[in-house]
Amino acid sequence: MEPKTSKESRTVITDLVLPSETNPIGNMFGGELLARMDRAASIAARRHSRRIVMTAAVNHVAFNKMIPLGSVVTVEAHVSRAFNSSMEVFMDVWIEDRESGRRSKANEGIYTFVAVDEMGNPVPVPQLIPETELEKERYAAALRRRQLSLVLAGKLKPKEATELKALFS
Ligand SMILES: CC(C)(COP(=O)(O)OP(=O)(O)OC[C@H]1O[C@@H](n2cnc3c(N)ncnc32)[C@H](O)[C@@H]1OP(=O)(O)O)[C@@H](O)C(=O)NCCC(=O)NCCS
Repeated sequence: MEPKTSKESRTVITDLVLPSETNPIGNMFGGELLARMDRAASIAARRHSRRIVMTAAVNHVAFNKMIPLGSVVTVEAHVSRAFNSSMEVFMDVWIEDRESGRRSKANEGIYTFVAVDEMGNPVPVPQLIPETELEKERYAAALRRRQLSLVLAGKLKPKEATELKALFS
């Protein structure tokens, strides 16, 4: 399988925040944003693997800023690293100022997807070649995040998490 770049999986979804998607003080529900992120990330993982993909883990989500009713929200997703059958997908969430049109970063998230066959069995995916400095940083850190996620899921023994040990030693 030919390796791919992050650019090839880049997926951008832009949509408004409607009243039914907000809490009593008029800000977007976290769950609504998680769902939009999941959709964008699954398209990115599909573009990378050209396979059926399943969300295996939500590794990290930071809700740094409230997103008010009526905001224009853009979720930008790309595969940040591929392993065997799994892919880490990184998402940046932006909101747009109504008057200036200037974008500001509201949130970010990292999900893991697994490519599967028609029976739901994991299948191999192309490797990812990072190009920019940011892509290289995210690529390098993805191995630590994978080990942390697997340790938390009880699928990797802490003593086998070599990258995490190196981080804390
Ligand atoms: C995701 C799923 C296909 C993984 O299947 P599995 O039998 O656990 O397979 P494996 O243990 O061989 O793991 C497959 C890959 O997933 C990765 N993985 C599994 N759990 C993970 C976790 N919690 N965090 C990060 N990666 C994980 C493994 O590291 C492995 O990656 P690799 O092939 O790149 O090395 C399976 O657990 C599943 O179908 N889950 C339900 C998914 C779903 O329904 N999602 C929508 C939620 S409503």
